[in-house]
Amino acid sequence: MNRPRLFCEFPAGLAAVSLRLQGGAHCRPPISRCGNKAGFSQTILGVLGLHSGQGAGAYWWAEADPDVAALLRIYPDPDALREVARIIRGWTGEEPRALWERLRAERRARGAARGTVEKVAGWMVSADWAYRQGNPDSGFNPSTATGRSAGCDTFADRADRLANSAISAPVRVSPCIPTAAEVAATIGTPGDLSGCIIYMDPPYAGTTGYTADLPRAEVVAHARDFADLGATVAISEAEAIPDLVRSGWHSVEITGGRVGAKRTFSKQQREIITMNKPPQYTVPTQSSLFP
Ligand SMILES: C[S@@+](CC[C@H](N)C(=O)[O-])C[C@H]1O[C@@H](n2cnc3c(N)ncnc32)[C@H](O)[C@@H]1O
Repeated sequence: MNRPRLFCEFPAGLAAVSLRLQGGAHCRPPISRCGNKAGFSQTILGVLGLHSGQGAGAYWWAEADPDVAALLRIYPDPDALREVARIIRGWTGEEPRALWERLRAERRARGAARGTVEKVAGWMVSADWAYRQGNPDSGFNPSTATGRSAGCDTFADRADRLANSAISAPVRVSPCIPTAAEVAATIGTPGDLSGCIIYMDPPYAGTTGYTADLPRAEVVAHARDFADLGATVAISEAEAIPDLVRSGWHSVEITGGRVGAKRTFSKQQREIITMNKPPQYTVPTQSSLFP
């Protein structure tokens, strides 16, 4: 597919798929958070007919969690990312649990990270080292915090790397998913979203853990709304979405398309994409040698 004129990640989480589209294999979120699609991003792009590093004319991310949204807002700002890296490097050498307790206490005292890079830096470390990654209120996870790959220098290096591949295309971050009409009007083609891709990655039905939720009925309503204006729409879930499949949408299983470490928190679940166009790539399934 040609370079999309707009790529939306609704909701965005850490926007792992957008980063992969824009910056290629080494352009990844600077922290881990439950549900992030970094390991599946190449496969998801393939299913959409896109490839790593191809880029998009613009990006639009919707994210209800204000801490996450604060991080997303600095993705296109190399100076802010380098400042985050500098602040986090300043914490190198502090005992991990004491540092984490301090950062979490500071966050509780001031509320969400909205605002300064200091707050974003503090949230990043307290979120990544949490038992449920992304949620500091779930408690400290010593094995993540003291693992060699998770020290302060690692966060700082990742923020620096993201700064070096900073997204140069226009980026918009919204606290909730905009309507299709609003998106089309904002990009200057009222009523027309052809050439645009809407990748939806909601909290999976029946799961909890995020501060915000997005019921299945709303996901389906948004998906139809965007498809009606000509966008390519794809939704990640643990199952094919029955309402959409009944309307002739396609579904493709990508569980085997994960690259890198397996999920450590959630039990292994299926990953299915439901979309309004035929998938452009399917994950090869290996049939058992010992049936
Ligand atoms: C599975 S995660 C997205 C992961 C993302 N694709 C990535 O790779 O990082 C789902 C996200 O939906 C957000 N969310 C939940 N309800 C929402 C809502 N009503 N509006 C916007 N975001 C919402 C959660 O905070 C969470 O970040």
